[in-house]
Amino acid sequence: MKRTYYCGNLRRQQIGEEVTLVGWVSRRRDHGGVIFVDLRDRTGIVQVVFDPVIDVAAHQSADRLRNEFVIGVKGRVRARGEGAENPNLATGEIEIATDYLEILNVAETPAFPIEDEVDVAEEVRLKYRYLDLRRPKMQKTLKMRHKAMLACRNYMDEQGFLEIETPILMNSTPEGARDVLVPSRLNPGDFYALPQSPQQFKQILMMSGVDRYFQIPKCFRDEDTRADRQLEFTQIDLEMSFATEDDVLEVTEGLIKRIFEEAGGIPVETPFKRMPYAEAMDRFGSDKPDTRFEMELADVSDLVADSDFKVFTSVLENGGQIKGLAAPGGADFPRREIDALTDFVATYKAKGLAWIKVTTDGFDSSIVKFFSSGQLQAVAERMGAKAGDLMLFVADQPKIVADALSNLRLHLGRRLELIDKDRFDMLWVVDFPLFEWDSEENRYQPAHHLFTSPSSETAGLIETDPRKVRAQHYDLVINGNEVASGSVRIHQWAIQQKVLEVLKLSPEDIKTRFGYFIEALQYGTPPHAGIAPGLDRLIMLMLGEDNIREVIAFPKTQRGACLMTGAPSVVSGAQLEELSIRVDEI
Ligand code: AMO
Ligand code: AMP
Repeated sequence: MKRTYYCGNLRRQQIGEEVTLVGWVSRRRDHGGVIFVDLRDRTGIVQVVFDPVIDVAAHQSADRLRNEFVIGVKGRVRARGEGAENPNLATGEIEIATDYLEILNVAETPAFPIEDEVDVAEEVRLKYRYLDLRRPKMQKTLKMRHKAMLACRNYMDEQGFLEIETPILMNSTPEGARDVLVPSRLNPGDFYALPQSPQQFKQILMMSGVDRYFQIPKCFRDEDTRADRQLEFTQIDLEMSFATEDDVLEVTEGLIKRIFEEAGGIPVETPFKRMPYAEAMDRFGSDKPDTRFEMELADVSDLVADSDFKVFTSVLENGGQIKGLAAPGGADFPRREIDALTDFVATYKAKGLAWIKVTTDGFDSSIVKFFSSGQLQAVAERMGAKAGDLMLFVADQPKIVADALSNLRLHLGRRLELIDKDRFDMLWVVDFPLFEWDSEENRYQPAHHLFTSPSSETAGLIETDPRKVRAQHYDLVINGNEVASGSVRIHQWAIQQKVLEVLKLSPEDIKTRFGYFIEALQYGTPPHAGIAPGLDRLIMLMLGEDNIREVIAFPKTQRGACLMTGAPSVVSGAQLEELSIRVDEI
């Protein structure tokens, strides 16, 4: 049958037209002689009427229809009867008076109804993903992803970028996660790694004179999956030669604006705000602050240093700090709620949560006796606490304070409904440190990756004081989510060598893992810089989804499984033998 319209596109203008439609039976109702079918395709639903007065045969076959049967119909578009309009449906003013029905296929009863709101375990949806994807909401997501990729390709092309594919079977790249490995049959005992990102290849492309590269690659990282992380995910990867940090930020702002506006219909103002890493950590305790609400952290260490509260003073004596935040209206929290908040911060290793209620009569807490009223006033003032608020404090080493309070801030922001869900706050976090101290391994790690360039002002400190070296590294944060990360790269061998020395990578290690890259650096590498927004996270944000699996057609579970195909699975002994692999009994 040759379709003349998609179901969801029919409107009043088509009244009187003969149409041919194909799709799935979404619902069938028998109203004493007249049968109504909601016919669904990827654009939506239209009501199809089988009336014996119009066509006896079509009405008779319509009696056999069940949900998810695939059918084709011919009929005339007509206005619905007075009072029968459905304002919730785009096609709600019309219906199809059918004179021909063809059943193209029958269907088993689906495991769940194909509707937007389904009350079914996610495992069932993932197992029957083909049914799940028929739901209008999922069709909308697939369409948005397509539009986002299209907007990206158009924009990047206009900006002079070339889309170039890079290999999937490659060597391990150092992005910091565990690799997904693939055994090589032709080279027994050797393995390919799937790309954690095309980082090295895109830099090699700059060395190859490509000047501006982009790609929408699949990346693979065997890390613990979370709500915003997948084993296999998609980036919009780009790299530019002869470009500064500002150049990359400007191109990326244009890209994000184009994607949000064209795929999401969400207006975006550029340029985006910028905040140094140190300021983000200080004010929010996080390098990806949600700036849609206030409740900022305040360091009160200096104000309480002379108090009699041993919990605070002993932490200060041990080089720690005391920071806090004021929960607006929190003075009403019952004791059990404060206890729950204490348990909450304990999950981030905080040893306690000190609290003081601010009332119209002053301060209320079992610990106020340890402070002078001048100290309490000064603390309240610095935290911006008013009567009716609850001041909450964590005393510890800076990392624990930041972890506990940044998460507490988000938790309270949601609990107190301080977050405007319709808002999109785009923020660049800039001036990251180049190195992070890894206290478990007792050595420095790159804060981003080892090709990131130090800032010109601090490059001289690499050998003498690595902790103080700042990186030309930038992250794009939207509503508290890290959606992109990038940097200006090291293009001079002498600087790369110094960074590798700080990281204490052995010369053999350097040679085997990226000897070719180090060699390439020495053949006239142009200055270059780049970034990679995560496509899945951008779609999540535009749709207001909390779970990354909702925006990927065929996602993997927390355990890295595809519940539809059953991957990963055992392979035959013959396959293993060819690969020279022996699997121990588990
Ligand atoms: P980075 O590792 O920060 O940088 O990744 C860039 C962006 O990719 C997204 N992302 C993920 N999305 C879903 N699941 C995951 N497991 C996952 N991991 C990362 C995030 C993140 O901001 N090569 C560098 C980029 C560069 O320097 O140009 C890189 O990959 O949105
Ligand atoms: P304690 O003296 O242990 O009874 O604690 C008194 C108050 O201080 C309680 O509300 C604790 O939750 C809180 N507290 C204990 N340790 C800390 C800490 N490291 N940071 C903030 N508050 C703490």
